[in-house]
Amino acid sequence: MSSVHWWQNAVVYQVYVRSFSDSDGDGVGDLEGVRSRLGYLELLGVDALWLTPFFTSPMADHGYDVADPRSVDPVFGDLRTFDALVTDAHEHGLRVMIDLVPNHTSTEHEWFRAALDSVPGSPERARYHFRRGRGEEGELPPNNWTSVFGGPAWTRALDLDAAGEWAPGGWYLHLLSPDQPDLNWTNPEVWADLEKTLRFWLDRGIDGFRVHMAHGMSKPDGLPDNRGGDEGGAVGLLAPIDGDPRFDHDGVHDVHRMIRAVLDHYPGRTAIGEITVGDDERFARYVRSDELHLGFNFRLLQAPFDAAAVREAIEHSLAAVKWAGAAPTWTLSNHDAPRPVSRYGGGALGRARARAMTLVELALPGAVCLYNGEELGLPDAELPDAELQDPIWELSGHAERGRDSCRVPMPWEGDAPGHGFTSGQPWLPMPPEYGELTVAGQLEDTTSTLSLIRRAVELRKTHPAFTGDGVEWFGAPSGCLAFRRAGSTLVCALNTSNNAVPLPPGDLLLASGPLNGNLLPPDTAAWLA
Ligand code: BGC
Repeated sequence: MSSVHWWQNAVVYQVYVRSFSDSDGDGVGDLEGVRSRLGYLELLGVDALWLTPFFTSPMADHGYDVADPRSVDPVFGDLRTFDALVTDAHEHGLRVMIDLVPNHTSTEHEWFRAALDSVPGSPERARYHFRRGRGEEGELPPNNWTSVFGGPAWTRALDLDAAGEWAPGGWYLHLLSPDQPDLNWTNPEVWADLEKTLRFWLDRGIDGFRVHMAHGMSKPDGLPDNRGGDEGGAVGLLAPIDGDPRFDHDGVHDVHRMIRAVLDHYPGRTAIGEITVGDDERFARYVRSDELHLGFNFRLLQAPFDAAAVREAIEHSLAAVKWAGAAPTWTLSNHDAPRPVSRYGGGALGRARARAMTLVELALPGAVCLYNGEELGLPDAELPDAELQDPIWELSGHAERGRDSCRVPMPWEGDAPGHGFTSGQPWLPMPPEYGELTVAGQLEDTTSTLSLIRRAVELRKTHPAFTGDGVEWFGAPSGCLAFRRAGSTLVCALNTSNNAVPLPPGDLLLASGPLNGNLLPPDTAAWLA
């Protein structure tokens, strides 16, 4: 793999649209808000934006429950605003990627409404997975699958009975919430509709898609029980799903080939899949030359702050694309996982570690994805129960708090409660400490996390040492790691131990925190060349 295409070494910035910038004071971020912040993103130096779903949706899963995939929900704006955003982003030198949600629709999608109004065996129901239940009266779910969000993966629908009355009948499958019925990917109509959606957005000038749950969609014939455990499968969005019949079924690769065939008609456009397949060889199948261009690998995000674990995550992520000849991707943060500052211990320690890990990530060959607020070193927000909105909270019977804490709006400036995000009431409360982490405040401060990441992105783009597709490991003291970009002079060293250690030889380019002479202190990373 040598960097021929823009996405192979891009820094992609994930905009969680609800929480980025609100232009109309309703407390929810919108497309016009994103448009008004393009100057900031250009300053940050990223290459592309990935916009999370802004399509018409009842928002049961904050837009990942799509009622019309070829439209803009009024809460986020309209198609005209979208077009203006794409045009302006391109003028700022930023590419635009959008989310694609092919696994399921919303229950509010016209197809699903028609399915509920139709009889078992009808073409309307054949676009989803409706099945008769087990038990004498069909009163038990058709198999033992659980939803990723908690609870059974089946909900019972009403059917017309012999007397012409609506009564509890067949069940429909939803690997996520009951508001997200899974589409039946053996139905040609489902394929044709996705192709239409791809072309709709590509023709509007977007540069690519982030494909949600790229290991979903295809289901095994007969929907056999999950034998992996009584619970019917792993719960949790980013949990590895190896051997789980709900996911990573071989048929999914035909879907990716179709997506790729469409994209190949639009030069320069790309697709990056969300893939939680743990096995490296199975992961690689998704990024073969006729499938997705890139795949999010979550190993780095899931690794604890420990040099050996970080190295193992990097080695697996590289191995998982090498076989297919694709570029690796790196991510420490997104809207589905606790923020790095909190994950690595919180407070000043968590922030120091998150800064160090960002330097590790940005030193690696391949594409990097930063999640909005990561560049500010935002911690997770502590939210009272009454504020929680993620469906996981209810569906897990309040056992899991869900992902709201990492989705709290961006603080832009000032001390007022909306911190420049909104003139109204933010959809999730912003904690007072976010006032010390605003964009405006950090731009002024050369030691801030924002200044560090800006500089790191700039060096990554402009310094000649950032070449080379592979990674060569150096010997390093216990609790530390050091690698060199293969074929280049860039060295990155990370210290996760409790003691300061000598820096590897080379001229210092950047460090994630203060150094101690020629020593790399604990919880710090440095770049040398
Ligand atoms: C998104 C999640 C969402 C899930 C289910 C994923 O791709 O990242 O936020 O809940 O899809 O629709």
